[in-house]
Amino acid sequence: MKAYDNVVIFHHPLIQHKIAILRDEKTSMKEFRELIEEITTLMTYEAMKDGVPTVTKTVKTPLETCQQQVVADNAIAIVPILRAGLGMVNGVHTLFPAARVGHIGMYRDEETLEPKEYYCKLPDGIENKFVILLDPMLATGGSACDAIDLLKKHGCKNIRFMAIIGAPEGIAKVAETHPDVKVYVSTLDRELNENGYILPGLGDAGDRLFGTK
Ligand code: PRP
Ligand code: URA
Repeated sequence: MKAYDNVVIFHHPLIQHKIAILRDEKTSMKEFRELIEEITTLMTYEAMKDGVPTVTKTVKTPLETCQQQVVADNAIAIVPILRAGLGMVNGVHTLFPAARVGHIGMYRDEETLEPKEYYCKLPDGIENKFVILLDPMLATGGSACDAIDLLKKHGCKNIRFMAIIGAPEGIAKVAETHPDVKVYVSTLDRELNENGYILPGLGDAGDRLFGTK
């Protein structure tokens, strides 16, 4: 796959180890949910090492007073793409407990694979926030591109997108359609099958998170 300036693919051994368990068809729903959260926390730590809005705070230690950078109040919004993105929210909240959460509902039409929006509720002032958009699966890229379009229509200017598994087609589509959005993917898979599923992938992330078929 072509390299894109706005795409980071993690090759971290801890993340890869957890992805191996996540892929396994025998992994239980409980363990799957926990792994999605844990991987998201590891990704967030790495992905947010620059660009997060910070302010200087004065702190009095037992010895003296110092200036310390802290994450700015009310500066971050987490936006999961429903349903599967919901599974990643706690993983980001572990590191940014005060982040507000917006929701974008999208499902893929099974025939056309085109995303359909069915819900959108975003926090007040989202246009001035640092937005972390979440979806574990980046397949054709249609859902991610439409969700980013929607965020931009609401005035968002600072968007990062995190996916756990990405197909080359989806990564290329998001990277080229939205060059201003930084995309983080934990692992790059081989291709999509004729039904738009990622290979080798992990199956349907929403179904495995929520126990549906
Ligand atoms: C899955 C997944 C993404 C989308 C990715 O959602 O969670 O949102 O497909 O595919 P794309 O890159 O080709 O758009 P799905 O439509 O199955 O909805 P669900 O999360 O409610 O199961
Ligand atoms: N959505 C999923 O949940 N899995 C895929 O492989 C593709 C889209």
